[in-house]
Amino acid sequence: MTKAASESLTPVLLELDSLFAGTRTLVEVELNALLPLGNTAPEKVHQAIRWSVFAGGKRFRPALLIAAGEAFGAPISLMLKTACAFEMVHTYSLIHDDLPAMDDDDLRRGRPTCHVRFDEATAILAGDALQTLAFRTISHDEDLDAETRVALIRELSNAAGTPDGMVGGQALDIEAEARVVSGKELEEIHRLKTGALIIAAARCGGIIAGASAQELKALTDYAAQLGLLFQITDDLLDVTATAEDLGKTPGKDARSLKATYPGLYGIEKTKEAALQAHTTACEALDRIDRPTATLKKIADFILNRSA
Ligand code: IPE
Ligand code: IPE
Ligand code: MG
Ligand code: MG
Ligand code: MG
Repeated sequence: MTKAASESLTPVLLELDSLFAGTRTLVEVELNALLPLGNTAPEKVHQAIRWSVFAGGKRFRPALLIAAGEAFGAPISLMLKTACAFEMVHTYSLIHDDLPAMDDDDLRRGRPTCHVRFDEATAILAGDALQTLAFRTISHDEDLDAETRVALIRELSNAAGTPDGMVGGQALDIEAEARVVSGKELEEIHRLKTGALIIAAARCGGIIAGASAQELKALTDYAAQLGLLFQITDDLLDVTATAEDLGKTPGKDARSLKATYPGLYGIEKTKEAALQAHTTACEALDRIDRPTATLKKIADFILNRSA
């Protein structure tokens, strides 16, 4: 990053930048190579994909996958394509999450949402295409043996879909609007809509690195708490942050009568829940006899994030 660019960033983005700097550029260069160009037919769909992917997301899931794999000794080069596949599925989930029939948002990653910039049909197709491009990317990754590719596809498909994945969580989230939910139900929504992909990202890093079943279990426990923490802080930021920091419209959850941690517990108890998830995540790392300092820093960052 140039000096001028770094001076224009807020402290939190700088902190994030130094934590994820090593991976973000590599991931974005790889994504650029993997995604069809905007002048490839159907042009509008490919332009919409690029509009949403290259809008400056945090690239948290790729960074987590790579940090998890590095802890167990995998080289970044072996993880890059799978990391990009996670960012594709994640960006698809954002495009569809913003649709009028879902959360009906018009700002994402600091830009008009995909359906606002293009149109609804194009946004739906861009999301669909990103999802299939993700699986295509892993299946074509010839640096990995076939068995590993199948294992990765199994993880990502379980985490993205139903009943135990992101789509399952999104269905529960929509169904819970304007309804009183219990703490247990809320945790389940967050576990599925956000936690599932985060768990799978960490596990896929471990799988590429050849981590043992016991190590994968500890990684899963860490990432489950990290995923919960991630959505708790997302809920908090919707109440406390500005559109400029977030790149999305704050206050949307209350207006849409969403089931959220601040809505159910209030701000103070929500912060306690976040701390608890952070502590439990770090305890799981203690069970891993490998260099986990970066994974710990990721948990610290998510606890304290302001974007
Ligand atoms: C937002 O995810 C949606 C949730 C699952 C909470 P991110 O906060 O990772 O969004 P980007 O990728 O940085 O835009
Ligand atoms: C979305 O949760 C989780 C997804 C699967 C995309 P939110 O609806 O709270 O995410 P934002 O706040 O719009 O990013
Ligand atoms: Mg939503
Ligand atoms: Mg939303
Ligand atoms: Mg949110």
